[in-house]
Amino acid sequence: MSQKNKTLGEYIIENQASFKYTSGELSRLINSIRLAAKVVNHEVNKAGLVDIIGAAGDTNIQGENQQKLDVYANDKFIQTLTNRNIVCGIASEEEDDFISINSQDENNQNKYIVLIDPLDGSSNIDVNVSVGTIFSIYRRITPIGTPVKLKDFLQKGSEQVAAGYIVYGTSTMLVYTTGHGVNGFTLNPAIGTFYLSHPDMKFPKKGYIYSVNEGNYSHFPQGVKNYIKYCQMEEGDRPYTSRYIGSLVSDFHRNMIKGGIYMYPKSSKNANGKLRLLYECNPIAFLAEQANGKASDGFTRILDITPTELHQRVPFFCGNKNMVEKAEVFMQKNP
Ligand code: AHG
Ligand code: MN
Ligand code: MN
Repeated sequence: MSQKNKTLGEYIIENQASFKYTSGELSRLINSIRLAAKVVNHEVNKAGLVDIIGAAGDTNIQGENQQKLDVYANDKFIQTLTNRNIVCGIASEEEDDFISINSQDENNQNKYIVLIDPLDGSSNIDVNVSVGTIFSIYRRITPIGTPVKLKDFLQKGSEQVAAGYIVYGTSTMLVYTTGHGVNGFTLNPAIGTFYLSHPDMKFPKKGYIYSVNEGNYSHFPQGVKNYIKYCQMEEGDRPYTSRYIGSLVSDFHRNMIKGGIYMYPKSSKNANGKLRLLYECNPIAFLAEQANGKASDGFTRILDITPTELHQRVPFFCGNKNMVEKAEVFMQKNP
């Protein structure tokens, strides 16, 4: 069977044996994410037609206005994972605290927890620009049959079992890793099936794109300012091209395919930048490393950071290895 004819369902079954501690549980979990992705995709596609765009009227714990699609996507992912009874805990950007799913029940053998950014890039919803969903999966560290605890969610990114994203773009793709490379599946909307369209995704050897919100330039640390100037300098293979969508998923997806660096540095306004370690940076960092890229906070590997809070923020530099390393040199000289 040609790669393009292979469905995500077939791929999951074929590769189940390569998962550590395989019991089919992780396969069922990824299958549920696939289902929720299709439901959310359907709603995202109708965004201009039904009453789903705009603010929901509430703010999340981080003080951000929740959009209706933020709330919808959050509900759908949580519902699907809860109804199918496959995880023991969920944490989400849109929930103040983590959610326990019958984790105290001693008959509940589920060992996985999921962290999720249900709708990434929500400022793009109203203007028909790509948005996404990001997910990160761990094994719980507390014993099965006892309530999940915060420490189950505060594991280092290097402990992730799987991670991925869905990009609701000109086509909808589900891209994920279980630590054996990155594979991308494109949804055929006519029949509701994801097909393996991008096997073994890798960053190209060299990248020529830099992605950063330059509106914040005057608030950036000197190292970032200098690196941006370096990207713009006429020398060798530079200047690089600037591309910024404002949805991490879409910016990362493009950079992984075309080659580039994404930056959300700290600034004089936000000491730790904007992006959240647990459900934005860690999953994207895991994918980046699996695709021969690199992710750092400017000094330390993202996956080595020990989290202290569920909604913790961290500066983020992610993309082609050599580009991230270059940015690190600038940061270390002028932090
Ligand atoms: P979210 O919509 O989940 O809150 O995430 C938005 C994030 C990220 O996706 C994006 O790259 C970044 O915020 C954009 O921030 P700026 O508008 O400050 O550039
Ligand atoms: Mn986000
Ligand atoms: Mn979000």
